[in-house]
Amino acid sequence: MQHGSMIATSGWTLHLKVSVRGIKLQPYTHTRRPGEAMMQTAKIHEPLQLGSKLTIWPPVVLAPMAGVTNYPYRKICSELGAGLCVSEMVSSRGILEGHRGTWKLVHFADSEHPRSIQIFGGDPVAMGESARRLKDELQVDHIDINFGCPVKKLVNKGMGAAVPADPKNCRAVVRAVVEAADPLPVTIKVRLGIDDENLTFLDAGRIAQEEGCSWITVHGRTVKQMYSGKANWELIAELNDQLELPVLGNGDIFEAEDGLERMRRAGVPGIVIGRGCLGNPWLFRELRALFDGDPVPPRPAVEDVVGMVRRHFQLLLEHFGESERAAILRMRKFGSWYATGFYGAAEFRRRFNTVNSGEELEEILGLWLEGQAARED
Ligand SMILES: Cc1cc2nc3c(=O)[nH]c(=O)nc-3n(C[C@H](O)[C@H](O)[C@H](O)COP(=O)(O)O)c2cc1C
Repeated sequence: MQHGSMIATSGWTLHLKVSVRGIKLQPYTHTRRPGEAMMQTAKIHEPLQLGSKLTIWPPVVLAPMAGVTNYPYRKICSELGAGLCVSEMVSSRGILEGHRGTWKLVHFADSEHPRSIQIFGGDPVAMGESARRLKDELQVDHIDINFGCPVKKLVNKGMGAAVPADPKNCRAVVRAVVEAADPLPVTIKVRLGIDDENLTFLDAGRIAQEEGCSWITVHGRTVKQMYSGKANWELIAELNDQLELPVLGNGDIFEAEDGLERMRRAGVPGIVIGRGCLGNPWLFRELRALFDGDPVPPRPAVEDVVGMVRRHFQLLLEHFGESERAAILRMRKFGSWYATGFYGAAEFRRRFNTVNSGEELEEILGLWLEGQAARED
C-alpha cells in the first residue's frame, strides 16, 4: 500500500514523504503545473493501517483518557468522526486478579467496532497474560500499551512512563503483549521521557518497530512537565524521521486546523486528540470534514450542546446500568466541560459540578437555554 503525508507546502510545491508497505522512501517533491488541480487533503493523507484488518479514517484517534473514554464517550466521538476511539487504561494485574473495578472499566457495547483497549503494567508476564485474556474473553480488536502515564503512584512502581526508562524490560513487555495478542495489532503510547535529561522516546520507538507494533503515539512532553509548557512537536517529527513505523503526534491540539497543520509540519501520518475534545467532541466532526476535503461545519449552537448533555447522561445511565445517582456523578465533569466557552460558563460549571439528580440536571439545562436566549434578545 502506498502511503504519503504532506510535510510542507510552499507556493506551488508539495513535499511528500512517501512510504511503500511501511518502508519510507526518499522525500518526494511535486511541483504544480499551471492548470493542474490543487491536491486535496483527502488525497494527500492516507488511512492508518492497524494490523492487517483495520483501516482507520480519518487518521485521527481519540486518546485514551481515564474516567473519560468509556463506551458512552467513545460512541459520541466515533459518531462525530473520530477514526479510532481507545478505551481508558486498565491495569493488567486488575484484569488477571479479576478486580471488579478494573473489569467494570472494560465495557464494550455489542455493536462497538473496533474494540480498542489500553493496558498498563511493568511486568511482561502479567501484561502478556492480560492481553491474551482481553483477546479471548472480550474479543478486543486492538491493544494499546500505556508507557506514558506520569502519575507518581504508577511510575514509582515501574509502570506507565517508567517502563521505557528500562529498555530491556520495555522490550520484554512489548514482546510479551505482541506475542499474546497475535494476530491482533498492538501499539504503544509514550511521553518523551522522564525529564529533559532522560528522554526515552527514541528507544521506545525503536523497540516498538523491532517488536512488530503497528504504531507509536508520542505525547510531546516529559513526565516532569506533566501538562505544563508546550508539547514538543519537533521531537515528535525527529522520531518520525528516524522510524519506518508510523508515529502519531499527540499534544495540545485544540483546533481542527491546528491539528492538520501540526501533522503537516511534523510529517506524521496521524494525530491523537485528548483534552481538546473534552466538552467539544465536535472537534472530530471538524477534523473529519477537513480530511474529507469538505467544508468545515459551524460550531454547535447552545441547543445542540444541551441536547448532547442529555444524550450523554442517557448513554451513561443505559450503558453502566447503575443508579441515576451514579450516572449523575459520572456526568458532573462532562457537564462542566460542555459549558466551557459559553456565556455564564463559570456559574454553569459550578452547578454541573454539584448536580445531584437528573431532575436537577434538567433545571440547569433549562436555565442555560433561557440565559442564552435572553442574551440573544
Ligand atoms: C483526564 C485525562 C485522563 C487521561 N488518561 C490517560 C490514560 O488512561 N492513558 C493514557 O495513555 N493517557 C491518558 N491521558 C493522556 C492523554 O491521552 C494525552 O496523551 C494527553 O492529554 C496529551 O494530549 P492532549 O494535549 O491532546 O490532551 C489522560 C489525559 C487526561 C486529560
